[in-house]
Amino acid sequence: MKILCVCGARPNFMKIAPIAEAFSNSGIQYLIVHTGQHYSPEMSRDFFEQLEIPKPDVNLEVGSGSHAQQTAEIMKRFEPVVIEKSPDAVLVVGDVNSTIACGLTAVKLGIRLIHVEAGLRSCDKAMPEEINRILTDSISDMLFVSEPSGIENLRREGRPEESLFLAGNVMIDTLRRRLSIAEESDILNRLGLRERQFITLTLHRPENVDSKRQLLKVLDLIERAAKISTIVFPIHPRAGKAFKKAGLEGKLSEISNVIITPPLGYIDFLKLLTSSACVLTDSGGVQEETTALEIPCITLRKNTERPITISEGTNILTGLNPERVGGELQRLSGNNFKAAGKCPKLWDGKAAERIAEQVRKTLA
Ligand code: UD1
Ligand code: UDP
Repeated sequence: MKILCVCGARPNFMKIAPIAEAFSNSGIQYLIVHTGQHYSPEMSRDFFEQLEIPKPDVNLEVGSGSHAQQTAEIMKRFEPVVIEKSPDAVLVVGDVNSTIACGLTAVKLGIRLIHVEAGLRSCDKAMPEEINRILTDSISDMLFVSEPSGIENLRREGRPEESLFLAGNVMIDTLRRRLSIAEESDILNRLGLRERQFITLTLHRPENVDSKRQLLKVLDLIERAAKISTIVFPIHPRAGKAFKKAGLEGKLSEISNVIITPPLGYIDFLKLLTSSACVLTDSGGVQEETTALEIPCITLRKNTERPITISEGTNILTGLNPERVGGELQRLSGNNFKAAGKCPKLWDGKAAERIAEQVRKTLA
């Protein structure tokens, strides 16, 4: 049995790492294909090193582009790889352009498709990821789901019962494996921070960073938050470029009590998360990680495809609304940033093992 495992963008690497390990442990032969969607060392190479992911067997080196260009270019470059390697299945994770591009290429060649992190729905088709999720799930043969809402969504969309598996959360497998190493990170010293005396911020969704109007709200929100606690903002390349393009870079750096860093490696970022009083984010993965860590999380979006982070976890949705964020931060700070939440079932560090076992049974 041979499986091509695809990854391409930052959040894919945390998901592929435990799958690669579990496949090795259960004797499943696999190759890693990196599409090159993310390519800056701090968005790609560093994760392979820190998460001990085997070096990619193939790198499609596709780089950045419009949605159509990037998706089409990945498909063109992935097709000959699938033909040459002739795998029994292609495995894709998450919801990025690499996910749908490689998924579609595989099924067009008659190769079985496995989707890990299937079934999540924000019900907001303005999000590029929502299109990628719906399309990938509609063509996948095996759908591994991280939370019960995903199973309900896939049933509603008519996916066959025998293709659905509630496996748990592979991103949390990685978190659990790396927690003790992250404890050793010296990032707090490097940034002059003290435990629980700061708020971590991440932002990269197009709806939040791609217009000057939204960036002005981001600045307002940061100013309010920085009055409550120090803000640490590891800045995603998309957000960094957007601030520059809007001519707001100077304004951002002038706000006092804000530390801006390049994107951080996984280990340093995990230490930052575990030590934060609270997290402000629009990231999908960070909503899950804060739930697993029981750290309060304010999500700067109107919806989430990960509802369990609200119903069971520590997540609060505010949208990009500076007043609401300020209000929530005041409330949390009045309560010493204590979070009421529990870690969802099956976010236990063993999701990838369950996936490997099921893949072996199904494809054998
Ligand atoms: C992509 C995913 C998004 C995911 C995010 C995780 C899609 C449609 N979007 O968004 O779902 O949440 O990754 O981080 O797949 N850039 C660099 N270096 C890099 C990569 C990108 O400088 O290594 C810059 C480029 O200017 C690029 C921009 O960031 O144009 C956006 O990159 P892109 O991959 O198109 O989308 P993301 O916003 O990163
Ligand atoms: N992350 C990281 N360094 C950072 C910011 C995030 O290692 O500076 C990690 C984070 O812990 C999570 C993943 O990146 O595991 C989330 O990726 P991202 O927010 O880029 O994408 P999304 O999850 O929104 O698709």
